[in-house]
Amino acid sequence: MDKFIIEGGRRLEGRVDIKGAKNSALPILASTLLVEDEFRIENIPMVRDIVTMKKVLETLGVSVSFDGNSVYIDTRGAVGYEAPYELVKQMRASYYVLGPLLSRLGRARVSLPGGCAIGSRPVDLHIKGMRSLGAQVSVVHGYIEVCADSLRGSHVLLEGANGPSVGATINTMMASLRARGVTIIEGAAMEPEVVDVANFLKRCGANIQGEGTRKIEIRGVQKLSGCKYRIIPDRIEAGTFAVAAAITKGDIYLSNVECDCIESILTKLRETGVIISKDKWGLRIRMDGDIMPTDIETAPYPGFPTDMQAQFTSLLALSNGVSIVKDAIFEERFMHVPELVRMGANLHQESDYVIIKGVPYLSGAQVMASDLRASAALVLAGLAAQGTTEISRIYHIDRGYESIEERFQSLGAEIWRLKE
Ligand code: UD1
Repeated sequence: MDKFIIEGGRRLEGRVDIKGAKNSALPILASTLLVEDEFRIENIPMVRDIVTMKKVLETLGVSVSFDGNSVYIDTRGAVGYEAPYELVKQMRASYYVLGPLLSRLGRARVSLPGGCAIGSRPVDLHIKGMRSLGAQVSVVHGYIEVCADSLRGSHVLLEGANGPSVGATINTMMASLRARGVTIIEGAAMEPEVVDVANFLKRCGANIQGEGTRKIEIRGVQKLSGCKYRIIPDRIEAGTFAVAAAITKGDIYLSNVECDCIESILTKLRETGVIISKDKWGLRIRMDGDIMPTDIETAPYPGFPTDMQAQFTSLLALSNGVSIVKDAIFEERFMHVPELVRMGANLHQESDYVIIKGVPYLSGAQVMASDLRASAALVLAGLAAQGTTEISRIYHIDRGYESIEERFQSLGAEIWRLKE
């Protein structure tokens, strides 16, 4: 298993190009299964989750070939209906093949998901969405099995105790595209990735309205065809590099960003003292003085994203006061906390929040990555810490960030990958 070695304390400076959004690319790749045609999709981040999705599609009989950050996909010909445990356990988002296969074949069998170790993550809303369209759904031998002779439009509320679900909204939207009549999804997730998937599907001929609001309306169509499409920039990657600028008191220019999507992140950065300037090509993020404390509570979009909580916890660990960070969206999303404490952070976790008493410096230590965003938080802490940080199990970070060490090196960081 590879490790990162980081010699901390370097001020990061320069320009970085933000890659395409992983969380758009995954469902968009899966949704090509809906159609029998050819596609060219651009701005795909070359991360491990995308490689896993490629394997899932190939297992189902689809031809997938990458050319840099673009992919050519051919879904003509027969496709299978089963996504096996060996692949799904590597990545929870494999469940995105469920909706497209149900729509195209009238059946699908997908292993119950694995993925990031952030608590138990139910799939009841995905099942509710499929059932509302007339599908029969059962969970047998660790697999979700769905089948339907035909799908019909429906009116469904896809909101759980923790609010809307990005995955269930997208899966149900994909399954409903060819259903007879109109489907209305109430309580829909409003995340930019949902909008991106809807825009892609519309390019394929789908009739979707209301994406980006709490109510999405889908009118069933008979024919869908392939298309060319470009994925939006990754807002979480942009946020992570912005925190890197802040935590190293640096000056980083982010190009290929969509500023509207990251407003909640920028607001919190400003509260910590970051100076942000925008032009039409991107964003300049600078930090000169002390890091100021601030309180954060994660929420569905347009609120502050749970996927940025860990990175901000590292930043606030170095602030000059007390902050409280609350994240109740998933269980066990604070696995970076004990590791940051090993680096000298003063953090106290109580159920779904952390009290952070800022310290003047962190010191490098041996730490272990536990999930995707927790690993990003440890890299950021290592970049700012005094001395050497060694992060093991970095396969987690490779799931969601392309060539992260090379891009940090180009900004002046001393970070190396040790292959084992
Ligand atoms: C997606 C993102 C993930 C991000 C999350 C929230 C991808 C591949 N992953 O995950 O990075 O952290 O959105 O922005 O896009 N829930 C249920 N029942 C369900 C489904 C979800 O109760 O059937 C709950 C979850 O446990 C959680 C909340 O709904 O509490 C939100 O989860 P959801 O939006 O579905 O997250 P994902 O789509 O899995």
